Amino acid sequence: MLRLSDVSLSYGSFRALEGVDLHADDGELVVLLGANGAGKSSTFRAISGLHKATGSIRLGEAELLGMRSAQIVRQGVVQCPEGRKLFPQMSVRKNLMMGAFVYASDRAGNKERLEQIFAMFPVLSEKKDDPAGSLSGGQQQMVAIARALMGRPKLLLLDEPSLGLAPLVVKQMFEIIQQINKEGTTVLLAEQNAFAALHISDRAYVMERGRIIMEGNSDQLLGDERVRKAYIGG
Ligand SMILES: Nc1ncnc2c1ncn2[C@@H]1O[C@H](COP(=O)(O)OP(=O)(O)OP(=O)(O)O)[C@@H](O)[C@H]1O
Ligand SMILES: [Mg+2]
Repeated sequence: MLRLSDVSLSYGSFRALEGVDLHADDGELVVLLGANGAGKSSTFRAISGLHKATGSIRLGEAELLGMRSAQIVRQGVVQCPEGRKLFPQMSVRKNLMMGAFVYASDRAGNKERLEQIFAMFPVLSEKKDDPAGSLSGGQQQMVAIARALMGRPKLLLLDEPSLGLAPLVVKQMFEIIQQINKEGTTVLLAEQNAFAALHISDRAYVMERGRIIMEGNSDQLLGDERVRKAYIGG
């Protein structure tokens, strides 16, 4: 489904990604691990066209590099950004509708999609008229994920969805991600919570200073001493 080959990205003279190769097959849940500043978000920015990169980023037969970000969303690649980026004063419902902006003309389709999402996240249905900023941290993260789902992803990019959430809420978040994946959406998940992420994923990549330094099945990496030492703490 997704294949990055030799992807590099710079901010001015600073090289944030260097020759990144990674792929996600149809239906997979793939994790991108790495410490602060490793390049996880930059990888997502390259894929979603938010920052210029070099190399090749293919979705099936289509080359995404060079497309505008709205075009990339139409191809089925939707990002849920780090830090949620909600509009706190706007209602939950309006925030969700923002996710469907590239399908604005398909009102019936969006309405149906919204109903599906409210069925999946009942708490958001209850709070649909409340300002998004009034929700708890976990609920706001649900809004961010649900907004991405309004963009009809084939491939969902989730950037640190567990950031800043209480452990119990993190557990729920990972269950939701697993459910989304089981229902057929391919997921690329950037996480610092390596232990939980490896538990729900098929495969994983480890990044360090803009490069992929390790890859493998999640089970393998969970058992790898270097991974345990660096990312799991034991
Ligand atoms: N807009 C920017 N301008 C300059 N440097 C940047 C910019 N955004 C990120 N960087 C740098 O690029 C490197 C990679 O950052 P990136 O945000 O991709 O890392 P990350 O793995 O997502 O980290 P985190 O876990 O903190 O989110 C870091 O050294 C960061 O300081
Ligand atoms: Mg990041």
